[in-house]
Amino acid sequence: MPIRTTEVHLDPGALADQMADDVRAGLTATPRTIPPKYFYDARGSLLFDEITRLPEYYPTRTERAILEDHAKDVALATEARSLVELGSGTSEKTRLLLDALRDAGTLETFVPLDVDPAILADAAAAVAQEYPGVTVAPVVADFERHLTLLPRHPRRLLAFLGSTIGNLDPDQRADFLAQVRATLVEGDAFLLGTDLVKAEERLVAAYDDAAGVTAQFDLNVLRVLQRELGAELDPDAFEHRAVWVAEHERIEMRLESVRDQTVRIGSLDLDVDLVAGEQVRTEISTKFRREGVERELAAAGLRLTHWWTDAAGDFALSLSVPA
Ligand code: AVJ
Repeated sequence: MPIRTTEVHLDPGALADQMADDVRAGLTATPRTIPPKYFYDARGSLLFDEITRLPEYYPTRTERAILEDHAKDVALATEARSLVELGSGTSEKTRLLLDALRDAGTLETFVPLDVDPAILADAAAAVAQEYPGVTVAPVVADFERHLTLLPRHPRRLLAFLGSTIGNLDPDQRADFLAQVRATLVEGDAFLLGTDLVKAEERLVAAYDDAAGVTAQFDLNVLRVLQRELGAELDPDAFEHRAVWVAEHERIEMRLESVRDQTVRIGSLDLDVDLVAGEQVRTEISTKFRREGVERELAAAGLRLTHWWTDAAGDFALSLSVPA
């Protein structure tokens, strides 16, 4: 059925400007950071896909298993007529939700939202073909900035899967959840995937796998800086680190400079002096507990109604509604 004209809230120029601003702010801050959203160029997306199949990286397959068990319950609880997927990527796990909502007879519209127009177009075309009778209405947007611009279809289920919320710091999470709350009306619901706190060894292994795929993924952001911002650097002068920061219950990925070096970033007219052993933080991946998720949702005006986990308690899906 119909694919609606893609709604665009983010043009390539704005995206490039944002990257320049973010990278300048991050690399001049203490500690130095590069925002994780810039991992996902074509190569980075392929590497992430490879990560999701690694033996050490349990989140993707665990969330899929929870959806296999509970997508029906989600459909029953929400009776959603539209599914909005934030950061939809290839919309792979979404099919479990689409199937359940279609089988329940309520599904009318699918709204995939992503920053990448190419990935979005592919995903929209595939879903439109596989789900005749469902209107697909793609939106090019940044889920951190454009949620209030979302189309107001009736009885919406907003889904934010993969524990991507864990890549936001507490302030960013509060902002994001407030935007989610602001766009929801009575009858809508929010489905959230969150990775849970577990033994440090498993967490570190999931972010520093034996095959070195996560290291390649982490280092790939340096190639993005080279290509997009004219950074002059040698990726071999950095090493991948994955550290469990117990105080914040999060994994931090960092790129450690193996020597004293100056990285010149041409487009920013910026020189970044790094000493040997200095680390640039490239990602936080927060791990959650039920109380924390419930508290953060409540602070945003959302009331948790369901909490589903796998038997081992590795990952959770929560459903919440406007309080
Ligand atoms: C699935 C995007 C949330 O934090 O686990 C995987 C990305 N980073 N390995 C995560 C990621 C390193 C990731 N997200």
